[in-house]
Amino acid sequence: MLKILYFCSVIAVFTPINLNYSDVAENWQLGFQDPATPIMEGIINLHHDLMFFICIISIFVTWMLSRTLWHFKHNRNPEPSSLIHGTLIEMIWTITPAFILLIIAVPSFSLLYAMDEVISPAITVKTLGHQWYWSYEYSDYYNEDGECINFDSYMVPEEDLLLGQYRLLEVDNRMVIPINTHIRVIVSAADVLHSWAIPSLGVKCDAIPGRLNQTSLFVKREGLYYGQCSEICGINHGFMPIVVEAVTLPNYIQWIFNKINE
Ligand code: CUA
Repeated sequence: MLKILYFCSVIAVFTPINLNYSDVAENWQLGFQDPATPIMEGIINLHHDLMFFICIISIFVTWMLSRTLWHFKHNRNPEPSSLIHGTLIEMIWTITPAFILLIIAVPSFSLLYAMDEVISPAITVKTLGHQWYWSYEYSDYYNEDGECINFDSYMVPEEDLLLGQYRLLEVDNRMVIPINTHIRVIVSAADVLHSWAIPSLGVKCDAIPGRLNQTSLFVKREGLYYGQCSEICGINHGFMPIVVEAVTLPNYIQWIFNKINE
């Protein structure tokens, strides 16, 4: 038995699926990407809670349907029942689903309001969607000339990729943010609709021209978080990825210092 366990663990360790633990989608992945914000943890937990109800309901309905088909087959049950009403059963099958919906609504609404809340942010980053790249603006910091940090973020084309980089996901200039800090992200677009989305951070915010949307981020660990534009925005919609680099506060300050003195 121990030998089998050992063998299994060796296979699990050396399976060549993806040995590079960045926050990206993996080949043949079915579940969620690892969460890095409390919001994404909440989303995953809500999903698991709902799966419990979904499984119970599916099993119950399938069982009831099969029993009905079995017992009410005409050659098995040639004399049909004349019963057409049952107040009690009708009350039960109305109230029970309503009650289940009520139970589900409680965690769902609390998560919804938690996602909407922007808790006095320490940093504001503005992200603008363009056809077809993103641009980032850090307007909290100014240099002597009164200029804030402002840069474009383009996808790295396939021929320029370095070994280990992700095709269609890597960008030339990443959005850099510190970990364990409340960050406000303001999202808008310069031309058409885009959507700023990163699965691991639990963010998907529409970028709408002429309108400011905002979300908040609180990243719990350092890492590289990959996302993609999630609103069909034209021919290069699939080629305007998003990369967020979450670093420690001293590294972030160093990055800001370098950027502002560029
Ligand atoms: Cu930008 Cu799709």
